[in-house]
Amino acid sequence: MSDQRLPAAQTAHELDFISHSAAQTERVGQRLGEQLRPGDLLLLAGTFGVGKTQLVKGIVRGLGSDDLVTSPSFVLVNEYRAGRRWQQMPIYHVDLYRIAEERELATIGLEELWAGDGVCLIEWPEHAMARLPADHLAIYIQHLSETKRRLRLVPRGQRYVELVGAFKGTAFHG
Ligand SMILES: Nc1ncnc2c1ncn2[C@@H]1O[C@H](COP(=O)(O)OP(=O)(O)OP(=O)(O)O)[C@@H](O)[C@H]1O
Ligand SMILES: [Mg+2]
Repeated sequence: MSDQRLPAAQTAHELDFISHSAAQTERVGQRLGEQLRPGDLLLLAGTFGVGKTQLVKGIVRGLGSDDLVTSPSFVLVNEYRAGRRWQQMPIYHVDLYRIAEERELATIGLEELWAGDGVCLIEWPEHAMARLPADHLAIYIQHLSETKRRLRLVPRGQRYVELVGAFKGTAFHG
């Protein structure tokens, strides 16, 4: 998932910005969550403690859920329920850190999670790249300082290009 492998044609649709605090990352997540719909798949990449789960907290709020968001490091998948217009839609929060080999993935039924009835948010997607759908929104988070993070949104496929466009419209109009 290095920058060098991204096709040039989609670069124009990418979005790159700095978050200056954990609270700001959560707000960004919330605005993104407000744009999501059933079937959406988001991959959250970046090192330990960079803010992937922090972003998920906002996304889940943006989907109208009050459920407690915790790190699924040990259980692999947490499930929350959306509110408002997506009443009862499942939100799958996946953490693949503990997946050591890709063939282990077959045993957890990951494919069912993005089959279309819910939103799927995956931390540590690097551990499963070959098995993940080609269409998705990848979010790369990079540690800049104790409270600063660089966020880079990379859409793959038309749905996600539109999603980034819609997010841009709400998040950066002042
Ligand atoms: N700008 C920022 N954005 C996000 N988190 C921040 C920021 N500044 C500080 N933090 C802190 O960084 C930590 C991020 O932790 P979080 O659990 O979200 O990381 P993670 O990427 O999910 O880690 P892991 O790989 O262990 O799952 C939190 O303690 C949060 O308060
Ligand atoms: Mg996490």
